[in-house]
Amino acid sequence: MPIKNRFAELLPEITAWRHDFHEHPELLYEVHRTAGIVAERLREFGCDEVVEGVGRTGVVGVIRGKANGSGRVVALRADMDALPIHEASGVPFASKTPGLMHACGHDGHTSMLLGAAKYLSETRNFDGTVVLLFQPAEEGGAGGKAMVDDGVMDRFGVQEVYGLHNGPGIPVGTIVTRAGPLQASSDEFDITVTGLGGHAAEPHKAIDTTLVASQIVVTLHNIVSRNVDPLHRVVLTIGTFQTDSGASNIIAHTAKLSGTVRTLDPEERAQMEARVRRTVEGVASAFGATAVVEWHPGYPVTVNDEEMVAHAVEAAKAVALEVDGDARPIMPSEDFSYMLEARPGAYLFLGNGDSAMCHHPEYRFDDEAIPYGCSFFAELVERRMPA
Ligand code: NI
Repeated sequence: MPIKNRFAELLPEITAWRHDFHEHPELLYEVHRTAGIVAERLREFGCDEVVEGVGRTGVVGVIRGKANGSGRVVALRADMDALPIHEASGVPFASKTPGLMHACGHDGHTSMLLGAAKYLSETRNFDGTVVLLFQPAEEGGAGGKAMVDDGVMDRFGVQEVYGLHNGPGIPVGTIVTRAGPLQASSDEFDITVTGLGGHAAEPHKAIDTTLVASQIVVTLHNIVSRNVDPLHRVVLTIGTFQTDSGASNIIAHTAKLSGTVRTLDPEERAQMEARVRRTVEGVASAFGATAVVEWHPGYPVTVNDEEMVAHAVEAAKAVALEVDGDARPIMPSEDFSYMLEARPGAYLFLGNGDSAMCHHPEYRFDDEAIPYGCSFFAELVERRMPA
């Protein structure tokens, strides 16, 4: 087995941490119990510094190597929050809180980074400093941004940053990533269309808001096919469509639409808001209606640095069974993107085997993946900052 032997020894202990976190899921920034345990463990391991309350409920641990001639500071990140999902995984250590579940494996991410922290504190076989970032609120709360905004990169002198996310459908022991865009940005928008309500039998005395809004939906989809460079990747989806008409014989007065734009291209992303506004306002005006667009920027594109990916792939090859350094990007978004905007780094997927997808009530984190994740973090540190 290519993993570090120490993690085979530590596996029962790390797995026990993971199952405990799994039984006690917490949402967004309310990760008080989890963050408390993380800080307590880091102190037990003998980390040189442990700072709580970074980015509200984030925890930072600092481990100095045997030497610090290199002056290099490498950060490793894990997320701690769960999801508002009622667990149906059937595991014996299922969530004890109805309606909350670690359905994205962040319990596994946190445990693997703690495992790596234990090993790195014991061995310190590197020349430089490791900064461990345990962040809250990955699931829509921009906890990564909160930590960056709280100055975590400058305060701890971070020069580069790495993170791992489990990947259902990828065999256990496999690590995949790519240079450049790995995950999409995610922006949302709300549209309110106002026409003129009326009697269904007298459309000429009304402005049919349902028809106007329908034209808006159809025309918005032309943005992707006609405005976006065919070699760039953009998704536009209208998720909701509601009118204020309550009967088949009433022409609606207002309609509300909401949707999302995902893209792997920061340049296209920057242009999408203007394109959506122009299209919506133009179509509404053609019918004599009005429309208002509210734009809600979300997570940026997750962009891996080419050089850092090369380092990460080299470390992965030393500990994993299989490595793909040129994997396909995916369209879900990830708030590690904020850390990658602040510092060069790399995000990677760790095989989680044949489980239900993340965010599904039957999702299961595979504990067999733990030694690979821990070994990757430790190997990366030892290779980036050789003693
Ligand atoms: Ni996740």
